[in-house]
This record gives sequence, C-alpha cells and structure tokens, in this order.
Amino acid sequence: MIKERDMSAAIEVQGVSKRFGQFTALNQVSFTVQQGEFFALLGPNGAGKTTLISCLAGLSRPDQGALRVMGHDVVSDYRAARAALGVVPQELVFDPFLTVRETLRFQSGYFGLRNNDAWIDEILHKLGLSNKADSNMRALSGGMKRRVMVAQALVHKPPVIVLDEPTAGVDVELRQSLWTFVQELNHAGHTIVLTTHYLEEAEMLCSRIAMLKAGQIIALEDKTTLLGRDAGRELWIKTEPAGTLPEPYQEWKVREEEGGVVLKLPSIQALEPLLQTLRQQGLILRDMRLRETDLEHVFVSMMHKEMQ
Ligand SMILES: Nc1ncnc2c1ncn2[C@@H]1O[C@H](COP(=O)(O)OP(=O)(O)O)[C@@H](O)[C@H]1O
Ligand SMILES: [Mg+2]
Repeated sequence: MIKERDMSAAIEVQGVSKRFGQFTALNQVSFTVQQGEFFALLGPNGAGKTTLISCLAGLSRPDQGALRVMGHDVVSDYRAARAALGVVPQELVFDPFLTVRETLRFQSGYFGLRNNDAWIDEILHKLGLSNKADSNMRALSGGMKRRVMVAQALVHKPPVIVLDEPTAGVDVELRQSLWTFVQELNHAGHTIVLTTHYLEEAEMLCSRIAMLKAGQIIALEDKTTLLGRDAGRELWIKTEPAGTLPEPYQEWKVREEEGGVVLKLPSIQALEPLLQTLRQQGLILRDMRLRETDLEHVFVSMMHKEMQ
C-alpha cells in the first residue's frame, strides 16, 4: 500500500522486502527519515543494513515495497533519487590507478558535473586530504581510503548522506574527526543516516534510532524514549549456590551472564532489601556489579527478548 507522499521526508521506506533465493534479507521494512534528521540504523551483522542501503541507492531492487529519496522513487525516478543521495559504502571500492583527485573528478562526471574542482578542493581540505590529492589510491592507508569514500559521497552535494559503518576498523583519531565533520554537515542541513556497531556513537550523535534484526525493524524511536523505556539500573549478581534466586526476585531476572544473573532494579532503594533477602535465604554473595542503562544495554536486552 503506497502512502501519501510526505513532503518533509528525506527518506521513505515502505514495506520493503528483499529475498536472495529462499533467504529473506529484508522483511516488510518501513520507516521515514525527516529532512535534517541524524538517524541511526543499528543492527547486528547480517541484519540487512547494507541490503537496505543498496536498495536505497538503486543498486539492488526490492521484491516488494517502495523507497524514495527526497520524494523521488528510487526505481521510477532513479536519477533524481540517486542525485539526492550520497552513500559512503561499507566496503572500500576504488580504482588503485587513479589519484585521489582523479577519483573525485571521475565521480563528479558520473553525476554530470564538470568544473567541480573548487568544491573538490573544499572537501579535500575538510577531510584532511589536501596533501594526498595527487597520491594514487593504492598508496593510501586504510583510514585515508575511508576518507576518500566520504569525499566521494559528497562530490555532488547531496542533501541526504548515508554512511554504512564508516568507522569499522578506523582509528580513534579518524573516527573523531569524521564525526565532527558529519555533525557539521548535519548542522548545515544535510540529513544523515548512519549505520554503526559503535552504539555509544549512535547514542551521542543521533536523534532517532531504528533497530534492524534479521531483516525486520524491531524498534524505532527517539533516542530519549528508547533510553527512557529501559530506565533504571541493572544488577549483576553471582551467588552461591548459583541460580537459586528467591521467589519474588525471579520476575526481575533479565538474563544469565558470566555465571550469574542480571536483574532489573526498579530503583536503587530495591537493592538493600534484595541483599537482605539473599542473606536470609542463606545465599552467599560472591560478586556483584551495578550499571546504568545505556543504549548498548537497551539494545542487547531487546535483541535478547526478540530471540526468545
Ligand atoms: N547478494 C547476496 N546474495 C545472497 N545473500 C546475500 C546477498 N547480500 C546479502 N546477503 C545476505 O543477506 C543478509 C543481510 O546482509 P547485509 O545486508 O550485508 O547485513 P548487514 O549489513 O546488516 O550486516 C546476510 O545474511 C547476507 O548473507
Ligand atoms: Mg553491512
């Protein structure tokens, strides 16, 4: 079913399914990213993130559903949709015999842009690549190649930028400068979609988060709502004998971990009576850890619930 066009949407994904033979990589995925948003797409390996991005970039066709970039259908209005989108791919793809500048000129040509050198110089400068402009791609380090992938996504000044795990295997310094740069782009009005394994980065940068697992969206919320939903503390305890939690506390059990159990504490005041009960039951406390809920734990516990 095709919804009415959302004029303020940068990306619309409606009921997208994609199969590879018998395998379903995307299963009825729907969400909308508004213009100007910094949106995170999180999910474990194999969740379907790259497949979804390939569909968005028109590199792969969905079996069902529709995708639009700035209102342009990625199939029927491919050129306009592609022109509105800059993709930083997960894999480093480049011609080893081209220099950095040639790579960016080549990419400009792909979008029909001539005389793009002023902008190319600006992005080279912003990404700290100015002194590598005439180096061959094959001579660059992995981190530098990654920067060229970012530059390449920006040559046609797309309003929407998608970064597919851009910091995987990238050193801390580059990661920092990349985030500063991406935040600047977002403040300048670009819509950003980020997939990452670094949940703390999503937590720090993004305003809305979708979680994808086995081809399905299992959560889609404002960051603050997502965090609030699981507000509270988790307590990990290891007792002797193990696994004999007194009756009223069975309900608090979230999962087993490292030979102990993780409990969801409704409040810090609940800790004292819990310890007292353990003592009364003759259980010996071997170890314990208390931690604040952060996105990583929300993520892990949601993934965990979905698996049961
Ligand atoms: N061209 C393909 N042919 C067959 N299976 C594929 C193909 N591309 C992706 N897959 C499978 O689809 C699933 C999702 O992959 P992918 O989108 O790369 O996940 P992610 O980017 O979230 O790690 C994986 O199980 C992967 O093996
Ligand atoms: Mg991927």
